Amino acid sequence: MSKIATLEIDGKKYEFPLIEGTENEVAIDIKTLRGVTGGVTTIDPGYKNTGSCESAITFLNGEEGILRYRGYSIEELAEKADFLEVAYLLIFGELPTKEQLEKFHVDIKAQSHVDEDVKKILDGFPKSAHPMGVLSSLTSALVAFNPSSVNVDSEEEMYNAIVRIMAKFPVLTAWAYRKRAGLPLDYGDDSLGYVENFVKMMFKKPSSDYQSNQVVVDALDKLLILHGDHEQNCSTSTVRIVGSSHAGIFVSISAGINALWGPLHGGANQAVIEMLEAIKEDGSDTKKFMSKAKDKDDPFRLMGFGHRVYKNFDPRAKIIKVAADEVLDSLGIDDPVLDIAKGLEKEALEDPYFVDRKLYPNVDFYSGIIYRAMGIPVEMFTPMFALGRLPGWIAQWKEMRLRKEPIGRPRQVYVGETLREFKDISKR
Ligand code: CMC
Repeated sequence: MSKIATLEIDGKKYEFPLIEGTENEVAIDIKTLRGVTGGVTTIDPGYKNTGSCESAITFLNGEEGILRYRGYSIEELAEKADFLEVAYLLIFGELPTKEQLEKFHVDIKAQSHVDEDVKKILDGFPKSAHPMGVLSSLTSALVAFNPSSVNVDSEEEMYNAIVRIMAKFPVLTAWAYRKRAGLPLDYGDDSLGYVENFVKMMFKKPSSDYQSNQVVVDALDKLLILHGDHEQNCSTSTVRIVGSSHAGIFVSISAGINALWGPLHGGANQAVIEMLEAIKEDGSDTKKFMSKAKDKDDPFRLMGFGHRVYKNFDPRAKIIKVAADEVLDSLGIDDPVLDIAKGLEKEALEDPYFVDRKLYPNVDFYSGIIYRAMGIPVEMFTPMFALGRLPGWIAQWKEMRLRKEPIGRPRQVYVGETLREFKDISKR
């Protein structure tokens, strides 16, 4: 294949190099476009055709339904690794040795306290506050209690910053839940693994000993792995773009949390279960909701379906669907919305509207059913996604800073008024 792309504007030809990734993805390198053409720009709302960076973290092939972290398939990682191992892999590029993993965990435990004054900030929120808003605010607030700038050229400072956020974020997530549930704020238990400790921080009751439930711990571990990273999605791009101004790691991640909150992104897991509940309340008439989803005059969308990149099964959804059956079975729960979800999936996969548009269930379609079976309330579903995505955000922020990427600053095509004269207020 030619290594050059040619662009012709007004009879004048310009050449741009093609670059190829390790999985043979081809991109036209237009870094010089504006310079050589005298200011011609590209327009691509939603960045559907725009590669914002070169990245060595996650590979995703939407046509074939492939997802790999650092070259390892998501299926293998979900089956064989644990979340902290995967977090290490995403952030540092290689699977850790036993010693490296132990050190990472010990360092995280040493940083897992949150300044007591953070509780006063949390106290200011009403109980009804959505935990995503609480989580993003508290994550930003961490700046006030920790070094606000990190010398990214110092491996040690970078490592310490990463450990700090990995350590404190689960505490803040658990606190966001406990505040809402009216439970006292708990700290972790250093004798436990990263995920089990989080489960304990969430569910420990003040009046009784905590009983670990391995089914819940294992299922959450797997869900967190599946959410670990997903290349340049909305929240990750947000983290990279905010970080590109050299804003610190806490505030960059806080911005990512806000981006994740929206129902078209991570907020879909909450929206899915609300939709399934609404279908159940309405008499479980899935056909009616399928028609609504296809009606262009109706804003309703089948939540948990469709994806910007996957035009085939989302590999994460396949794993989660199997896990949902297993978890509900192990916990002895019979949730009627699981049957509604399976019925909807079957109908959508046979419906020409969904088939033609290549709309398949995504990661959010079945995850809420598992969270609910674990006793996690619906408003906490998206914070669970955030906890899983944390290592991905960190890895992407780190990569962006180490590659010395320029500040993110897209161009536009201005379509407003041309120059006009100011009219005095008496003449308007
Ligand atoms: N229900 C009904 N129609 C849909 C749906 C849906 N869930 N998703 C896409 N379509 C239609 C859409 O109306 C459009 O139709 P037409 O070509 O006739 O105008 C076509 O399919 C293409 O959709 P799009 O909105 O242009 O595609 P996009 O890549 O901009 O959006 C999406 C991707 C995920 C935002 C979208 O599929 C959606 O809104 N899905 C529901 C929300 C959801 O489940 N989000 C979670 C995404 S995965 C996890 C994550 O990112 O956090």
